[in-house]
Amino acid sequence: MVEERTHKSLWTVSAPARRYPRLHGDMEVDVVVIGGGVAGLTTAWLLKQEGKRVAVVEMHRLLSGQTGQTTAHLTELLDTPYSTLVSDFGEKGARLAAESSRAAIEKIAELVERQGISCDFRRLPAYRYAETVAEVKALEKEASAARQVGLMCTLTKHVPLPYPVKLALRVEDQAQLHPREYLLALAEGIAGEGSHLLEETKVTAVRDGVPCRVETEHGTLTCRDVVEATTTPLNRVFLHTKLYPYRTYALAARLEGPLEAGLYYDSQEPYHYIRTQRVEGVDYVIVGGEDHKVGTEEDTARHFEALEAYARRRFPVTGISYRWSGQVIEPADGLAYIGRNSGSRHVWVATGLSGTGLTWGTLAGMILSDLLLGRQSPYAALYEATRVKPKAGVKDFIQENAEVAFRFVADRLARPDAHDLSEVPPGEGRIVEVDGHKVAVFKEEGGAVHAVSPVCTHLGCHVHWNRAERSWDCPCHGSRYSPTGEVLNGPAVKGLTAKKLR
Ligand code: FES
Repeated sequence: MVEERTHKSLWTVSAPARRYPRLHGDMEVDVVVIGGGVAGLTTAWLLKQEGKRVAVVEMHRLLSGQTGQTTAHLTELLDTPYSTLVSDFGEKGARLAAESSRAAIEKIAELVERQGISCDFRRLPAYRYAETVAEVKALEKEASAARQVGLMCTLTKHVPLPYPVKLALRVEDQAQLHPREYLLALAEGIAGEGSHLLEETKVTAVRDGVPCRVETEHGTLTCRDVVEATTTPLNRVFLHTKLYPYRTYALAARLEGPLEAGLYYDSQEPYHYIRTQRVEGVDYVIVGGEDHKVGTEEDTARHFEALEAYARRRFPVTGISYRWSGQVIEPADGLAYIGRNSGSRHVWVATGLSGTGLTWGTLAGMILSDLLLGRQSPYAALYEATRVKPKAGVKDFIQENAEVAFRFVADRLARPDAHDLSEVPPGEGRIVEVDGHKVAVFKEEGGAVHAVSPVCTHLGCHVHWNRAERSWDCPCHGSRYSPTGEVLNGPAVKGLTAKKLR
């Protein structure tokens, strides 16, 4: 049987969006929010409720960025273990991290209920489980830290999974939803009464000041404050030393047997994340994982294959219906950066949302809307974007930034993939040396060749070909470009320079 399979997320296919206009000419509002994902839409929605005129500016379509690729686990179980947070932020800080994640889940629940949003929101337990003796030890340590910071959790051997598990940390009252149904409904409430949703409007520059100016390809927006909710902030240099971009992979497979709804996480390195979802009467298991640093692997297709093998080994599935991948930005010290950008008066950022994008993206909306309205936020100090925690994550900080420096030099000196265009297979990209210069060449299936400079327009590292997703990826700070050089993901705002080949 030929399996039906699409390289789009289950969410994109099952909840199409209506189109919003581009910016035409100049405009003035109170707040410009750059980025039409969970952080941007939540911030804009909350500000509009308080009477602010907002404009959400999205480079592509709403939810086409990382929010569209989420698997939408709403959980207090963070990527950074609570034992690490306790040691780096103290018990008070770790407790606040748990409380704020809880508050974000409750905010989503409140909005779903208050706005009557039909998005399959449901509360369920989360399980982080161990399959080996070594994993059990680490899990017991984490359970004690989780209890210490107030999580409603227990250790249990009873995990409703169809394979043996030695022990699990069960956390009560977590949640899941259909992220596009939720956020598209939220988006509906933003446009109108002086507020705007603007799609296919690429920002080319952000100028802090009184007023701020946000320049786009189709006009300039003037405003009091700017929120950059763009996964990674545009062109910031200092902040990027604290952000580490990873690719993660996900698939949705049709379930042919029972699987109890829950959020499940194994303890492998990198870990897998699992949940279920029913769409149009069909039950799916959604499995994610296989994370790796952006731009460090060309054969990205093998990660989909490994994930598929993992799903088939463990769950009663017949076919893989959807597969997709996304970008996860890990923060240096384990907590997101949300607040005023360093050196800025009126530019705010939300980034480093880690593997808990829906939860922390909502939290970003709560914190930023409070701050922009001149209110106190109980969580603002913990997530302050300008913070530097010299001890927290210092090993990763040194290693990741040394790798950026290494990439900057090594990729320039590295041998090209090919010396002749004939060596580039159809449908593939290669770094080719032409007349002594490296060129990033993509060859269409029909043979047409597109050549661009391999130099990333953010800070000058060299891009690498990503086979599975057909993109040029930068290993330094995660910018991604289409095969013909257009920006797919920031922080770069300019596409790769086109090259003419003789
Ligand atoms: S993303 Fe920073 S150099 Fe490419």
